[in-house]
Amino acid sequence: MQKISDRIYSVGVNDDDKVLFEGLWPLPFGVSYNSYIVDDEKVALIDTVEAGFEEEFLENINEAIGGRPVDYLVVNHMEPDHSSLISYMLECYPDLKIIANAKTLPMLKGYHNVQDDRVLVVSEGQSVSLGECSLSFHMIPMVHWPETMVTWLPEENTVFSGDAFGTFGVVADDIVDAEETFDQYRDEMIRYYSNIVGKYGTPVQSALKKLSGLPVKRICSTHGPVWEKNIEKVVSLYDKLSRYEVERGVCIVYGSMYGNTAAAADALAVELEARGIPCAVHDLAGNNSGELGVSGALRDVFKYDTIVVGSPTYNNGIFPPVETFMAALKARLIKGRRFYAFGSYTWSPSSVNQLNKLASEMDFQILGDGLAFPQSYSREKFDASAIADCILK
Ligand SMILES: Cc1cc2nc3c(=O)[nH]c(=O)nc-3n(C[C@H](O)[C@H](O)[C@H](O)COP(=O)(O)O)c2cc1C
Ligand SMILES: [Fe+2]
Ligand SMILES: [Fe+2]
Repeated sequence: MQKISDRIYSVGVNDDDKVLFEGLWPLPFGVSYNSYIVDDEKVALIDTVEAGFEEEFLENINEAIGGRPVDYLVVNHMEPDHSSLISYMLECYPDLKIIANAKTLPMLKGYHNVQDDRVLVVSEGQSVSLGECSLSFHMIPMVHWPETMVTWLPEENTVFSGDAFGTFGVVADDIVDAEETFDQYRDEMIRYYSNIVGKYGTPVQSALKKLSGLPVKRICSTHGPVWEKNIEKVVSLYDKLSRYEVERGVCIVYGSMYGNTAAAADALAVELEARGIPCAVHDLAGNNSGELGVSGALRDVFKYDTIVVGSPTYNNGIFPPVETFMAALKARLIKGRRFYAFGSYTWSPSSVNQLNKLASEMDFQILGDGLAFPQSYSREKFDASAIADCILK
């Protein structure tokens, strides 16, 4: 529990144990599920936390409000990392009313069998008074689900933004950011955005437009630090990511069974690094421990303008982990990237052609035919310098 202002307390939890977020995305630095109390004549709780943290969550709430009951539970977002303890809260506080919008209602019923008389349904811009201060509600559909909204506390210029402006990584004892906090979280914020929200660039842009009318002094998101000192940096990063804007650089992503495609990927990375080109390399087949796989690859696809993909030919097609990566690009509506494919084969190549076909379906700029090389890697078969010339021209 941490007091953030005279009225606001952070009552969320850190999760160091979960291995994969949404069953997919590695969490080397953990994740936080943030929840906030707004303490006035009435007490409002903004979102809950993931299942398994019942005791810690209730302790945090009690520490903040000294055993007083929670009057309102604002449900900004129904994904279970924030909504899992709704039933538990309804049991703990028999008079508690949920504040939610119309799109949330069927989800509340379906997940928690919540009866209508326990819900105060709010619409766009509606305000609910807590006494001296009030909360208003603003819909930001598809950031990250259709029912998603943010809660605005005008008396504190604070937005409770849900997943928007969230990041992977547990939070420090002091959840409020220092000057250097943004730099510490930047990579995990990009990975969070690209993995979780990456498909919804247009809705994120609409949400940013909506928020730009508010004099925001504090962002309380559901994952990661509370942003006060880095608001401009955080908002402009989300703006840039949701416009799919990138910098010059190369993201090499490959899968390899026996190391030949891997050796080619490494040779190209060495060549690009020697030329001073920003370059990230991701092994999708999990041969290198500590690899983030598709999750890390997506992060760097959101950073760099060029994607180089390596896959051996596998049953006349693309090696499955690489196919999954290509599908992940498509699912995120990635556009405006430059693309090059390579890979080893043994009797008849087809992965490179198929990769190029998928890339052209996404309207990527295809940089040459790509290079399929037979059997083992060698410098003669895979001329990294010539390929670098082709990629960089
Ligand atoms: C299950 C399996 C299926 C394969 N299918 C093909 C194929 O359809 N066409 C081909 O030319 N090579 C095929 N190969 C051979 C690989 O492409 C070849 O061994 C390549 O060098 C592997 O590259 P790597 O060392 O990067 O894993 C297959 C290999 C395996 C293990
Ligand atoms: Fe979410
Ligand atoms: Fe979330």
